Amino acid sequence: MKKNDIQKLVKPSINKIAKYIPGESSINGKTNIIKLSSNESPFSIPKKVSKSVNSSNIQVNLYPDGDSVFLKKTISETFNLNKNQIICGNGSDDILSIIAQAFLRENDEVICSEYGFIYYPIIAKASGARVITAKSKNLNISCENILKSISKKTKIIFFANPNNPTGSIIFRKELNQFLRQIPKNIIVVVDGAYSEFILNKKYSDGLDLVKKFSNLIVTRTFSKIFALAGLRLGWAYASREIIYLLEKIRGPFNVNLYAQKIGASILQEKGFLKKSINHNIKWQKKLPKLIKELGLYAQPTYANFILVKVDKKKFDKKKIIKGLLSERIIVRDLSSYGLDDFFRVSVGSDTQLNIFVNSLKKILNKISNAKKN
Ligand SMILES: Cc1ncc(COP(=O)(O)O)c(C=O)c1O
Repeated sequence: MKKNDIQKLVKPSINKIAKYIPGESSINGKTNIIKLSSNESPFSIPKKVSKSVNSSNIQVNLYPDGDSVFLKKTISETFNLNKNQIICGNGSDDILSIIAQAFLRENDEVICSEYGFIYYPIIAKASGARVITAKSKNLNISCENILKSISKKTKIIFFANPNNPTGSIIFRKELNQFLRQIPKNIIVVVDGAYSEFILNKKYSDGLDLVKKFSNLIVTRTFSKIFALAGLRLGWAYASREIIYLLEKIRGPFNVNLYAQKIGASILQEKGFLKKSINHNIKWQKKLPKLIKELGLYAQPTYANFILVKVDKKKFDKKKIIKGLLSERIIVRDLSSYGLDDFFRVSVGSDTQLNIFVNSLKKILNKISNAKKN
């Protein structure tokens, strides 16, 4: 069958999807690189945790527990939640996509914020829905503009708090007020992929608001602070009724054996969590300052990445990214997010970030000198 004929077989909205491009993980096949493009943890999980799963005593010939019972119990104890209101998934992107599949039909509308996580429009379109983009305000999610975008057709509102790629947050008070104004027949997904990085008391990860808002779903991941991106593990918390629906349509064994065991084990590692938070807090302050000293703009962040703006009158962003690549450093170009003058850099290890800053300095000097000559 020709490409055109195949395209006629799918929902028209699927033909409009641009494939999700993840941060590069190698340069020309070389893996000896500094990857600061996907907001992963720079730390390896504690040996104790990886050793807890000994491949000789794990039976991969058998299916894993389809209901992830032990993992759900551990999550419920760690976060003080009801275990019957948790769903686990093959990464939080699995759960986001199950949510879209469960609630959306053709001609529904989904509201996403401008400069939000790029996977939300993909799953909305895959379900046949139309995506309405609410303008952001100074790179922050605008609750006001989301509310203005609501129509009779709105089915789901997706946003991340903190937001990726801008690193901004909505504080508890505003989030609460915002949720109160959203009609109950609209599902609100608060994606908390970066929640654990925030200690600020004025912030809510939304888990405590699920009791109050029956239309709220909070999604979480083990890919960021818990350093398990490669294992693929995420979860969500919502009312029993919503979880019941999502559980019906997820893959029967959507969380693999290793992810269930290691996921439950890493939650016990309070020292690892503390180390990761402290490391992040240190670089949240230090990295924007160093970047600004070099003549670029760095947006304040609540997450484990920094949004960097390149003044095009001074520097060519493409040259910076190319220069970093030649030093084996990968950052995330944000042109595909509509942020043409920006790139994003993840909080890597001390060594990685020191190399990044030195390389950036060298590259910017080179660009400036070439301009003068
Ligand atoms: C806001 C946000 N949500 C979800 C995800 C996906 O996470 P997971 O690895 O759990 O699928 C990411 C990954 O970068 C993200 O930035």
